[in-house]
Parts: sequence; structure tokens; C-alpha cells
Amino acid sequence: MAHKLSLAVIGAGLIGRTHIDRALTSERVELVAVADPSPAGAALARAAGVPFYTDHHAMLAEIRPRAAVVATPNATHAALTVDCLERGAAVLVEKPIADTLEDGKRICDVSASTGLPVIVGHQRRHNPIMRKARAIVASGALGRPVSATVMCTWLKPRDYFDVEWRRRKGGGPILINLIHDIDLMRHLYGEIESVQAIASNAVRGFEVEDTAVVALRFRNGALGTVTVSDTAAAPWNWDLSAGEAERFPRQDIDAHYYCGTDGALTLPRLQLWRYRTDQGPALGWHDPLTLERTALHTGCPYAEQLRHFAAVVAGEEAPVCSALDGWRTLEATLAVTAAAATGRPVPLSAA
Ligand SMILES: NC(=O)c1ccc[n+]([C@@H]2O[C@H](COP(=O)([O-])OP(=O)(O)OC[C@H]3O[C@@H](n4cnc5c(N)ncnc54)[C@H](O)[C@@H]3O)[C@@H](O)[C@H]2O)c1
Repeated sequence: MAHKLSLAVIGAGLIGRTHIDRALTSERVELVAVADPSPAGAALARAAGVPFYTDHHAMLAEIRPRAAVVATPNATHAALTVDCLERGAAVLVEKPIADTLEDGKRICDVSASTGLPVIVGHQRRHNPIMRKARAIVASGALGRPVSATVMCTWLKPRDYFDVEWRRRKGGGPILINLIHDIDLMRHLYGEIESVQAIASNAVRGFEVEDTAVVALRFRNGALGTVTVSDTAAAPWNWDLSAGEAERFPRQDIDAHYYCGTDGALTLPRLQLWRYRTDQGPALGWHDPLTLERTALHTGCPYAEQLRHFAAVVAGEEAPVCSALDGWRTLEATLAVTAAAATGRPVPLSAA
């Protein structure tokens, strides 16, 4: 077997545990340490048979891993990622890359100056469904992209909000959930030019939004809309439809609708709608559309992301979601909050 990449996991909370589990069964990485100030991490490290540290500085100095996963609260991402890079470890940092554009930029800069790769944990890009969708869009089967309509609606249980930061600004569905959908839209349609949005906290009454409606203008000329709400008893979102996490019951439904001049695609069911008759300019809504649905092997996006991370560190693959890519998705997502606050469109920086 090829030499495995030595990997530390920093932050052993909800998603850190997923990374630890996937690392333990990976053919490409070897888990070498866990760091987390909370004692709960110690039991996890013991079960995994690796050293546990309450201080990531001590872990980096003693273990010297070649790579690290940073799976800690958003506000700590930049400092921890920079610490890892400066100690010679490449980083897979969880999404969002940071909680401010300045901190995200710092990660991009230090990655460039150290020459060590940083990839951002937008794991949905590694789902076989998204790979196929990207190939379909890139093949030109949709023609010129016209619109994207995305739903991100579900009901978070009341006790989810017992944790105080989830009731405060920045702890809501825009930065926690919508960011994944915006990232998928960027992955398929390319860069976003400007963002408009309205938001509401009318149902839960917390400081943070519970619902938002977003309008996007893409640089390729397409327009997109997203509805996000964590207070709606509804199934239309990626988490419930794509089957990425066992903790969610999977629904056989779609949540993303991409339309072009020659065809339309739904996700995650990968339904491709096209006219199969060629009648030139007479072709249109009186003619029957044909539906094609691709059945795929399912794959674990977190395991695939970790395999990819090792391949990026080995120089075998280019990052599917680089630090700069994660920064652009963050910029678009923070623009949603800014647009909702001001009522004005927010232009994004040029690519
Ligand atoms: N990609 C995904 O599917 C996904 C899912 C959930 C969360 N996330 C992201 O992962 C990150 C963590 O979220 P979570 O839900 O696992 O949070 P969590 O609160 O469950 O876990 C965070 C852990 O980090 C630890 N921690 C805090 N400061 C630390 C430090 N300085 N050094 C080491 N450990 C430290 C905490 O003790 C805690 O155990 C967030 O950025 C979140 O946005 C991503």
C-alpha cells in the first residue's frame, strides 16, 4: 500500500467525529492525533488509538502531521489554519473558510506563501451526483444557462436553538446552510456578479433570520433564486434529498432546478429534460419534452473529500474547492446578509 498521509483532526465535535471516522477507514490517510480543548475529545482519541491534546500548538509541535482537518467553530478557522500551515501541515478547513472575508483572505495568503494547499470542506462537490451534474452542464446539454431555482427548507427542532450562538447574528441558516447551496450553484454556473435578498425572523423571533429569499445574477447572464428557511415543515433541501448523512431520512425529491436554452436538470435526482425533436425555430412548449434520469452509485462525499485531500497534498489532483473558491462562496453568502440588511443589491468582486 502507498505511504499514507499523516493527518490530525483539530476539533472533535459533530463534524470532527465524521472526519475521524472516515480517516480511520481511509486507504490514503492515517489518523495520528486529535486536538480539542473539551474532554469529550479524549474518549474519541482513545477509541481511535491516537494521542489526544487539549492544545493544538503542542500537538503540531510534537506530532508534526503533514496534514490537518480544522473542524472547529467558524471564528477559529483562520487562526488554527494559519498555525497548521506555519507548522508545515496542509489543511482541510471546514466551511465556511472563515467568518470574515479578511480572515479568509489571510488563509489564502498564508497558503500561497507557504506553498501548502488548503481545501475547504464543501463536501457536496464530492458527491457523485454533483460530479455528474457538472459534467452534464459542461457538456452543453442545457445550452446557455438561463436560471437556477433552489429550495433549502426544513424544520430544525426547537432544542437546536438551546445553544445561544444559534440564536444570534451569523448563527442562522444563511451562514450555516445556504452557503452550501450557493457553493453548488457556483460550482455549476460559475461566478456570481451580484446578490439581492430579503430576510425575516418573524416565526422564531430570534435575533438571527429564520427565513430568507435570495436573487443572484451570474456572470454568465443566468439568474438564480434560493429560498432558505429552518422553520418550515417541508422536505425540499439537499440534506433530506441527497442522502449524504445517515442522520436524515432520505426523500425521493428534488431541491435544485437548473434551466438552460436547450434543456433542464433537477438535483439530486438528475432528471434531464430535453426536446428530442429538431423542428428548428418552431420548437417550443407545444412539443413533448423527453425525460432522462441517471441512476448512480452512491458514494460518501466526506470519504471522497478526504481521499481527494491526500491526492492534492501528493500533487496528484488540483483542489476541487481551493481556499480561493471557499473565499468566493463566503463572499457571496455574506453578501446575502448585507443585501437583506440594506435592501440594496450587493456587487461581488471580479473573478
Ligand atoms: N461540512 C459539513 O457537512 C459540516 C457539518 C457541520 C458543521 N460543519 C462546520 O464544522 C465546524 C464545526 O462545527 P460542529 O457542528 O462540528 O461544531 P461543534 O461545536 O460540534 O464542534 C466544534 C469542536 O471544536 C472544538 N474547539 C473549539 N475551539 C478549539 C480549538 N482552539 N482547538 C481545537 N478544538 C477546538 C470544540 O471543543 C468542539 O468540540 C463549523 O465550522 C461548521 O460550520 C460542517
